[in-house]
Amino acid sequence: MSSFQRGQCIQGKWESISRRDFFGVAAAWSAATSMGLALIGLVKFPIPALFPDIARLFKIGKPGDYPVGTEKIFEEKKVVVIRDQEGLYAISLTCTHLGCVVSRQANRFDCPCHGSKFDSIGRVLSGPAPKALPWLKVFQLPDGKLVVNAARSVPTGTKFVVT
Ligand code: FES
Repeated sequence: MSSFQRGQCIQGKWESISRRDFFGVAAAWSAATSMGLALIGLVKFPIPALFPDIARLFKIGKPGDYPVGTEKIFEEKKVVVIRDQEGLYAISLTCTHLGCVVSRQANRFDCPCHGSKFDSIGRVLSGPAPKALPWLKVFQLPDGKLVVNAARSVPTGTKFVVT
């Protein structure tokens, strides 16, 4: 038997394996190993890089934390959350001109960098800002906590209705 030297032991019996089978098995192992290593790399990859929205989600508490008239600034997130009679909404504090953080005034937002002014709901009163401050998506988790998604804007005037 010429295949004796290339044989393999299966259940105690030596079986021959052809060169084609050998390379087929080697290729399959190689592919499986590559996929395994790729999966390990994927798992070790930072989640925010894979799902950029996740990094921009943040909890703001429960609806009960926001009685009508409440306004809370999340400085680190550059977002203000406001509650009025119609609902609750979040406005980005990042100026739409060149990205400076606007400051809250009595009834408007002012940009300290180039002087843009926005009204109380973020519409441009004076430039150079080209557009309104974005309103951000607010939603509620099953446990009742509210979340702002700073990566998703909604049309100005879209409020989360507090029930
Ligand atoms: S960055 Fe706000 S006006 Fe320029």
